[in-house]
Amino acid sequence: MTGELIADFATPGSNIYDLGCSTCNTFRAAAHFIAPGITVRFIGIDSSPEMLDKATAKLKAEKFPFDFELRQADLNEGMNFENASVVILTLTLQFVRPLNRERLVRSVYNGLNDNGCLILVEKVLGEDTLFNRLFIQHYYEMKRRNGYSEMEIVQKREALENVLIPYRLQENKQLLRDAGFTKFDTFFKWHNFSGMIALK
Ligand SMILES: C[S@@+](CC[C@H](N)C(=O)[O-])C[C@H]1O[C@@H](n2cnc3c(N)ncnc32)[C@H](O)[C@@H]1O
Repeated sequence: MTGELIADFATPGSNIYDLGCSTCNTFRAAAHFIAPGITVRFIGIDSSPEMLDKATAKLKAEKFPFDFELRQADLNEGMNFENASVVILTLTLQFVRPLNRERLVRSVYNGLNDNGCLILVEKVLGEDTLFNRLFIQHYYEMKRRNGYSEMEIVQKREALENVLIPYRLQENKQLLRDAGFTKFDTFFKWHNFSGMIALK
């Protein structure tokens, strides 16, 4: 879904930023939908050098058909964007300290070209504790069905405690509004995950 949406907004000659790009699977998904003749530059940013090394190896091995550049940086320290048609934050804003989130989303808004978009996918809290409990329960059931052991599920949960700080969907919408976005919609919602798109 994000690949299709990126292609909808990627304009010729512009930059596409993925913040918290990890091993660049989102760029690879987008490449399926962008016409090969279009010149766009993919810029991936992540704080983890190991992830960026893997991303470089992967993109080179498969001869990624677009220009790309990968940068190591901490999103907590602020960021500038140039000539951006698309900025992607997939499961990454939740790791940025809450105090720094507004500044980051505002800098995305300021750096986007007119008619550019932000794609924001986040783990979210349910609007009610009952829903929240059920959503998380079904998420873990899905992990078990996909072969994860109890030990792996518990270890991941413990590793993310106090590191991954989810907002409610409404709080993320307010964050977008406060940053200046007036047009946005939810393109995906599954239990405690949501995907939003916001247009400048
Ligand atoms: C859950 S992964 C999501 C990766 C990718 N966006 C995806 O959807 O597959 C979160 C990524 O954000 C990166 N990250 C977390 N905190 C960060 C920060 N403060 N600055 C830059 N990158 C960060 C992590 O290294 C990791 O690669």
